[in-house]
Amino acid sequence: MLTGPLPAPPPSFKFGEPTSNRRNAILRTTAGSCPLKGTTTERVSARAARSRPPTVSIATSDSRQPSAREAAKLANVTVTTSAAEAAHTRIEPGILYFGTPVVLLSTVDQAGAPNLAPMSSAFWLGWRGMLGLGAKSKTAQNLMRNRECVLNLPSDALAAAVDRLALTTGSDPVPARKYERGYRHEADKFARAGLTPVTSETVRPPRVAECPVTMEAVVEAVHPLAEDDPKQRGGVLVFEVRVLRVHVHDDVRMPGTDDRIDPDRWRPLIMSFQKLYGLGPQVHPSTLAKIPERLYRGPDIERSRDQSSRANENRFTSGNQR
Ligand SMILES: Cc1cc2nc3c(=O)[nH]c(=O)nc-3n(C[C@H](O)[C@H](O)[C@H](O)COP(=O)(O)O)c2cc1C
Repeated sequence: MLTGPLPAPPPSFKFGEPTSNRRNAILRTTAGSCPLKGTTTERVSARAARSRPPTVSIATSDSRQPSAREAAKLANVTVTTSAAEAAHTRIEPGILYFGTPVVLLSTVDQAGAPNLAPMSSAFWLGWRGMLGLGAKSKTAQNLMRNRECVLNLPSDALAAAVDRLALTTGSDPVPARKYERGYRHEADKFARAGLTPVTSETVRPPRVAECPVTMEAVVEAVHPLAEDDPKQRGGVLVFEVRVLRVHVHDDVRMPGTDDRIDPDRWRPLIMSFQKLYGLGPQVHPSTLAKIPERLYRGPDIERSRDQSSRANENRFTSGNQR
């Protein structure tokens, strides 16, 4: 519960507003007593406040508005227009990482040396992925230069390997802001994580053998984040990648199907507010899941079959980069 100065009333409720909005006004006491004075209907005695739960409903008359003085006396109560609104407390978290799968992103540098970086600001639409990356990271620079990568999805069993890559960077020297946070340069991230690189079919970056899902992909577009704000401009880039190949361990495949991953077998590693989690079992039958998965198959799947390793190589030598 908020305490202290009276917060600004929600837009639907203004002091002096002679509407029925005020009829449902609820005063939430902060100390078990209510300092409110006013009309008979607005007055709540200390005894009444003590005998009730901390939330006290106040019937307000439509004909009388609280004066500025009364509003000031409300300084240690929170006014809301309904009990439902009082269910939330306004906060300003530093991060909004509510939980997304971890991706181990492999790329190659200008000399062809592989780099591997954990990231989790990722989501998928069809065979496209959107990846949010710090523009100064080695991975972002490799993606800008070579426009290809592998999205390796670790299971929750690989949490320790992923964690060994935390606070490492392929950049040398380590950028100042990262150095201050404890990052250090690591030339061989695969060795550091204890993971095995295997050759990809269509792109130069290697796949990670231990990851149950690996997806070879090319960069199709780069979207700057927060371009509207000079303080943030250029800091984060969102890479739109198109998947060319999906490789999976057989134990995450849905029995009896050719092309489906079984969500009851696939245990993604989830990063939530910087901590690592697995997923629990399904919690409720899903209405959306009644739509057959085949109806989502888009043109990128067909297109990916035509994309041979050679064709992809040409993509980079013919100046066809976007
Ligand atoms: C679990 C986890 C998730 C992360 N998610 C992101 C992310 O979504 N975007 C990002 O820019 N950095 C993310 N990071 C931090 C990068 O891994 C870090 O910037 C790293 O230095 C990048 O490596 P690189 O410089 O070799 O590319 C994450 C780190 C961890 C451990």
